[in-house]
Formats: sequence, structure tokens, C-alpha cells
Amino acid sequence: MNDRYQRPLHDLRISVIDRCNFRCVYCMPKEVYGQAFQFLPRAELLTFEEITRIATVFARLGVKKIRLTGGEPLIRRDIEHLVAQLAAIPGIDDIAMTTNGSLLTLEKATQLRAAGLKRITVSLDALDETIFQAINDVGYPAARVLQAIDHAAAAGLNPVKVNMVVKRGVNESQIIPMAEYFRGTGHVLRFIEYMDVGTLNGWRLDDVVSAEEILTVIDRQFPLEPLPPRQPGEVARRFRYRDGRGEIGLIASVTQPFCRHCNRARLAADGQLYTCLFNGTGHDLKALVRSGASDEELADTIRQIWTVRQDRYSELRTQETRNLPKVEMFRMGG
Ligand code: GTP
Ligand code: 5AD
Ligand code: SF4
Ligand code: SF4
Repeated sequence: MNDRYQRPLHDLRISVIDRCNFRCVYCMPKEVYGQAFQFLPRAELLTFEEITRIATVFARLGVKKIRLTGGEPLIRRDIEHLVAQLAAIPGIDDIAMTTNGSLLTLEKATQLRAAGLKRITVSLDALDETIFQAINDVGYPAARVLQAIDHAAAAGLNPVKVNMVVKRGVNESQIIPMAEYFRGTGHVLRFIEYMDVGTLNGWRLDDVVSAEEILTVIDRQFPLEPLPPRQPGEVARRFRYRDGRGEIGLIASVTQPFCRHCNRARLAADGQLYTCLFNGTGHDLKALVRSGASDEELADTIRQIWTVRQDRYSELRTQETRNLPKVEMFRMGG
């Protein structure tokens, strides 16, 4: 099943909860997401059974890979039960999770792995405690995120990926320290260009450190060479250290958009389906499920949505597209 630009539906990103225990300044600024902010009430969240049912229909339509996100997915209680249910769906051969690591104990990592989680990505924007704690804005130590990464590796979720969003004037100084720390560990550090997603991050093009610039900085210190993509639609360009001490990824969503191969759909915690990170027009699958629709009806609806999809926001990024309705990243699921 292809969309208007012949892109298949291959990945499903599922946000399991809109809450997070961090207040990263570029994602959930404290001024907006303080005590008084109303997150989704429990009854509005898709249940594990509903998520599994929807994912089963997606799998019948060609989805092979699922990534669980949030908010912070590990805040959702017993999330390993959901992983186990998803792992049992015929056709799903990869289940991954993107987390901030704060709740990733060795026990949790082991349970997730046993339930069928194949891969994990931990977000970490700096090693320097002052810089990292200023970014997460809740005083959470980088040292504990490093422990979480160790827990993931010890549980066998290898290679662990580490996501670093690079923002000009905030954490560029951390590019080399991060590269140095993760070289030779077997973990794959990925540098992400800061994106204009959502409405609250006060994004300006000046804040973006381009992947090219990041590459030049690292290559000067630790020479790199390109690696071929592992699979079509992969967002990160891969490089390896010439001295054999592992690989890194560069995600150039702003300067080298990859819409051409974008094969992802996003299911938010409230059951809205989105066809692009930057397209805030959702499709209410929860209403459909809760009104008693059959699997066939669900499949038809998803087919109708995907086959007319024309999203390619990052390739356009015109004033016109910048004014489209937006949904915050933590809600849509990164
Ligand atoms: P795998 O390919 O499964 O390893 O995962 P991933 O790299 O897609 O997952 P992850 O959640 O780590 O995504 C990394 C970052 O890439 C996200 O934080 C976004 O910044 C960016 N990204 C992922 N998907 C898209 C997308 O469809 N569009 C854009 N513009 N950026 C994306
Ligand atoms: N630009 C780029 N990446 C972002 N993330 C959150 N907000 C942004 C943004 N504005 C990252 C998180 C996490 C991933 C899922 O998305 O740091 O690693
Ligand atoms: Fe939470 Fe991730 Fe957003 Fe930070 S970037 S506030 S960890 S969802
Ligand atoms: Fe896909 Fe939209 Fe991102 Fe382009 S901007 S890669 S279409 S999610």
C-alpha cells in the first residue's frame, strides 16, 4: 500500500503517554507545562488492548516495525505487557523504544527485552552536568542517564542508540565530548539537527547546527568514513570511525530532508493518527475503535488516509507550510 509519492507504510510510531518527567526547554518548557497543565486523563489514553488491535490492523497493511515513544514511554505502567502483546502480532519483526532513560533500571530493561523489545534509543543531549541539567530543567543528572544506557546494554538491547539534539549556543560544545565518550563502547551516537516541530520550541534556523558542520567537527578530531544505509527510509546517515572504534549517525532533518523515503505513521496516545511530524491534522482512530468498528472498517479507514498522503513538510518548509496546524512533538510521539 503506497501513498501519492509511492511511499509504503512500513513503520508505526506509537506514543503511549503524553506525560514526561523532564521539562526539556525545547520540548516541554516549564512555563507552559507546569503544575496546572492538564495532560490526557486516563480514559482518553488508548488501552494496551486498543493499541494492540490497531497495530494488528497496521501489520496487515504492511507495517513491519513499531517504535514506542511518548512523552516518556516508561511512565506508562507495565509497558512491558504492551511490548509482549505487540511482539506476538504476525508480521511485526522489530519493536523499539525511544526513552529519556530516567526510569530504565536494569530490571526494567531486562523485562522489556524478555517481552520482545529488540532495540532501545536513549536521549542524552550533553555529558556536562550543568549543560544537561539546564536542558532537562528538572536537575536530572547525565550520570544517571549513562547508567541507564549501561542497563540497556547489560540487558542485551545492543547496540544501544543515543540521541543528541544539537542546538546552537546550548550544547555544541558537547559534540566532541559525547563522540569521545561513546567511541569504542559499541553504542551508536546519533546527532540530530534541532527541528521546528510543534509551536513551543521558539525555533529559528540560526539555532540549527547542520549535520555537515557536526561531521566536520568530529572528522577533524576522529576521522570518519561513510557507511551505506541499512534499510530504505532510515533517517540517520551512518559513518564509522576510520580507526574501527564504532559508528555514529547524523539526522539532518532540516538541511537534508528525507521525506522522499518517509514511510512512517504516528499514533498518538489519544488515538489520533498523524501522517507527518509536521501535519497536525489527526484522524481519530480511538473514536472508530470505541464505536465498535470492525477490523475491516479500521483497515479501510487507514487505507483511505495513507493512499492520499502527500506530506513532505521538511522538503518544502515554506512560510505556507510553517503556518499549518501543528501538534507538539511529545504528543505526536517524536
Ligand atoms: P530507527 O531508524 O528505528 O533506529 O529509529 P529512528 O532513528 O527513527 O528513531 P528516533 O526516535 O531515535 O528518531 C530520531 C530522530 O529523528 C527523531 O527525534 C526526530 O528528530 C528525527 N525523526 C524521526 N523520524 C522523523 C520523521 O519522520 N521526520 C522528521 N523530519 N524527523 C524525524
Ligand atoms: N528537534 C529535534 N529532535 C527533537 N527531539 C525532541 N524535540 C526535538 C526537536 N525540536 C528528540 C528527542 C528524542 C527524540 C525522540 O526527539 O531528544 O531523542
Ligand atoms: Fe521529555 Fe523527551 Fe520532551 Fe525531553 S525531549 S521533555 S525527555 S519527551
Ligand atoms: Fe516524513 Fe513529514 Fe518528516 Fe518529511 S517532514 S520525513 S514527510 S514526517
